[in-house]
Amino acid sequence: MSLNTLEEIAQYIVSDGKGILAADESNPTCGKRFDSIGVESTESNRRDYREMLFRSSGMKDNIGGVILFDETIRQNAQDGTPLVDLIKNQGALPGIKVDKGLAPLESSPEETLTQGLDGLDERCKEYLTLGAKFTKWRAVIKISDDIPTDGCIQANMEALAKYAKIVQDNNMVPMVEPEVLMDGNHSIEKCYEITSKSLKMLFKCLKDEGVNIGGTILKPNMVTSGSIAESQASIQKVAEMTVQCLKENVPSDLPGITFLSGGQSDVNATAHLDAMNKIGGFSWKLSFSYGRALQQPSLKAWLGKEENITKAQEALSHRAIMNKLAANGAWNLDLE
Ligand code: 13P
Repeated sequence: MSLNTLEEIAQYIVSDGKGILAADESNPTCGKRFDSIGVESTESNRRDYREMLFRSSGMKDNIGGVILFDETIRQNAQDGTPLVDLIKNQGALPGIKVDKGLAPLESSPEETLTQGLDGLDERCKEYLTLGAKFTKWRAVIKISDDIPTDGCIQANMEALAKYAKIVQDNNMVPMVEPEVLMDGNHSIEKCYEITSKSLKMLFKCLKDEGVNIGGTILKPNMVTSGSIAESQASIQKVAEMTVQCLKENVPSDLPGITFLSGGQSDVNATAHLDAMNKIGGFSWKLSFSYGRALQQPSLKAWLGKEENITKAQEALSHRAIMNKLAANGAWNLDLE
């Protein structure tokens, strides 16, 4: 498959049920993950961990793209091979997180606006030379009693659209991530309402900016109950409401929707994806762009020890295989 156009790149990443490994944790976030296994977050430990992931045999055929953090796209493996080349050798495309994280929103300081439009064009030009084929920008929408405000949704979706346009002008595929957080005790209906509102605004802004939808990937949350809500929606209900919300708001020429896992357990994230693909009836590929739900079992097996590398790689491979099955609606719990 040639990968000359934005459309071809986007389609390749999600071809045949492949998905994305999100390994773009910032250094502070990586530090939190390493704290949980008692490993110090040094540059070389972060490199060793990511090298271990990218050399896993299950990357091949199951992972179409890997999102990296700025530090990682510049790092070499222990034998001197650029980590970007390890990814390409597995048949996956390197991607890069280009936003600069969250800052309080002026008009409503308990909410956030994602930063990073300043200098984005220059950063894109450099990342392209470093091998990046796609990029990611994450906007965060929080649900609580009086939030999100309309201003927060609008400001974040406008920024996502401006980002996407700049990235496409630099010949990379923008992944747009409007994450409605699971945190809270809200109902699944509330999550539906806010996710729907955010997606509507996002696609309006993308259109206004002249973004090519056929060369864009959407990375949304699933429609779920709040993480501490007393009543938790079933797998089937999450799948049905998520598919309905996407059908209502996402244009049919978008090539791929790759979900974030957002704090779901690894098996739940797979089960939800599988249930949605079993429902079917949509034109986009419905796949995964998981961070924690792909990496967690591998991180726990690794523990920073060389002798655990094989076990840790098997754990990542297993999750990658399970999620590709789910992206084809061909997974079941017995396979776990
Ligand atoms: P999780 O799947 O752990 O939510 O991470 C995905 C991601 O890239 C968040 O921006």
